[in-house]
Parts: sequence; structure tokens; C-alpha cells
Amino acid sequence: DSIKVFAPGTVANVACGFDVVGLAMDAPGDEMIIRRSEQPGVQIKAVHGARLSTDAAQNVAGVALQALLQKYDNPDVGFEVEIFKNIQPGSGIGSSAASSAGAVVGANHLLGQPFTPKQLVRFAMEGERLASGAAHADNVAPAIMGGFTLVRSYKPLDITSLHTPADLWVTVIHPQIEVKTSDAREILKQKVLMTDAIRQWGNVGALVAGLYQENYGLISRSLEDVIVEPVRAILIPAFYELKLKCKETGALGGGISGSGPSVFMLSKGETIARQVAATMDSVYAPLGVDYKVHVSPI
Ligand code: HSE
Repeated sequence: DSIKVFAPGTVANVACGFDVVGLAMDAPGDEMIIRRSEQPGVQIKAVHGARLSTDAAQNVAGVALQALLQKYDNPDVGFEVEIFKNIQPGSGIGSSAASSAGAVVGANHLLGQPFTPKQLVRFAMEGERLASGAAHADNVAPAIMGGFTLVRSYKPLDITSLHTPADLWVTVIHPQIEVKTSDAREILKQKVLMTDAIRQWGNVGALVAGLYQENYGLISRSLEDVIVEPVRAILIPAFYELKLKCKETGALGGGISGSGPSVFMLSKGETIARQVAATMDSVYAPLGVDYKVHVSPI
């Protein structure tokens, strides 16, 4: 009565879609083993590869599972969880989301799939609430549903999968500095200008249209964030140079991955995605900041 789960890294926001658009990568991702336990409730047995709490109430996987168990309403059910982290906390590629999502997907499987993907997203969002103070769904939804997802509304929760063009790749650079999502949210302004809002919702609509039409030019033009990126760019070394050089290399566009410090770039095809990775190397190598680069299909 155990299951091994792969929980993918995710890119939230995808430039224009703050808190509403997200995508899942093939790699990197965490692995988790979920076991049924005689002991009711949730026990986090071990976390390998990152220093995270094994107190179920302080661990995002624990909190997400507790939300699931509350709804399952059978006081005898219990789970043990072992987590193998490949996605570092504070990386901006959905570390907490991977743990929350993997835990509830695994548990749902062991229980015989009583819950829908949307219900699982809701449970996993409780993990995000613990991690960042906000129960955002733009990482957990793609982690659970795959590909691109869109949160149309939080209240009531209304999430939909979007079409993913066959040849779309993502390149992500992860500077090895930690940016806490809660901090990266605190610096945001609470009001937006109407002119910025108009530009932003034009971009979100066009991004969705571009994905469905597999129109890479339209996708490219939509990858613009005039609201959040200008505030958060200061958190990331050489952000604007990185973006410019990657676009010169042939990337469609990109921006900050989630709340950073990772930066993502979308490309048409693996060849360009790998050239973009080399460009990221050339920008970051002289900076003396440790970093990792990942290339993945979506
Ligand atoms: N949408 C969230 C944010 C994602 O940008 O704060 C955090 O990974």
C-alpha cells in the first residue's frame, strides 16, 4: 500500500498571468513515496535534499494531506510521506507546490481516486497558503493537471486546462539565491493603473489564443508583464540583460518564474531552448553567482 509519485516543477505567472497562468515542466521534479499507515493522520517520515520541517502541520505536504483527510472524513485513515527534493525551496519553480501536489495525488490514488483533480488542487492550495501566506493555485494546478492551466476565478475556484503547443519548450535558470514568495509578494503594489491593466489583460487573452492557435508569434508578443515584473526585477541579478540576450538568441520571450529568483524563457523547439540555455550560461558565468539551468518540454 504505497506509491511513488513524480511531482514536476512549474512556472507560475508565465509573464502576464500573475496568479492565474501556470505551466508544468517534464523536469526537474520531486519524488515522493506515500504509504498508507495504521496510525491515523499524517506523518512526514523524512525529507531528503532540503532542510524542511517534518512536523506535518509545518510541512506543505502534511498540510495538503490534512486538508484531504478532513474532506475524506474517515478518522482511521493515515499516511506516511517520504520526500526526495530536487526542486529547492525558494527557487521560483514551484517547490512547495510540487510537495503539496505530489502528496495529494499520491494519497488520492491509494484511496481509489475519490477526489477530482479540482478538489486535489484545492487541498494542495492549503500547502501554498502555509508556504507563502497566499493560497495561490498557479503552481499546484499545472503540477496536478499538467501542461498549461488558467485560474479564471479563486472565489469560486474555477480552473481550466489550456492547450499546449507540441513544440513549446522552456529553459529555466535558477540562481542559487533564495527569494521567499511571501517577501516577493509583500513588495507588490496593491493598485494597478488602468493603462497597465488594459495592456496586461490584452496579453493574457492573446497568450491563451496563441497557445490554441499554436501561433508562436502571438505567444511571443504576449510574454510581457507590465505590472509585477517591474517591481520584482530588482530581486534577480542581471534580469534585463538575461531577458534581452535570450530573446536575441531566439527565445519567444519569458520573465520571472513565479516569484523568482528563477527566470524562464519559452522557445519553439529543443534546439533553440538549448541555445537559450547556453546564452543564460554566458550571462551568468561572469557574475560569480551559482546557478543551475534546466531545459524541458512542456
Ligand atoms: N503567482 C505567485 C507569485 C507564484 O508570483 O507570487 C509564486 O510561485
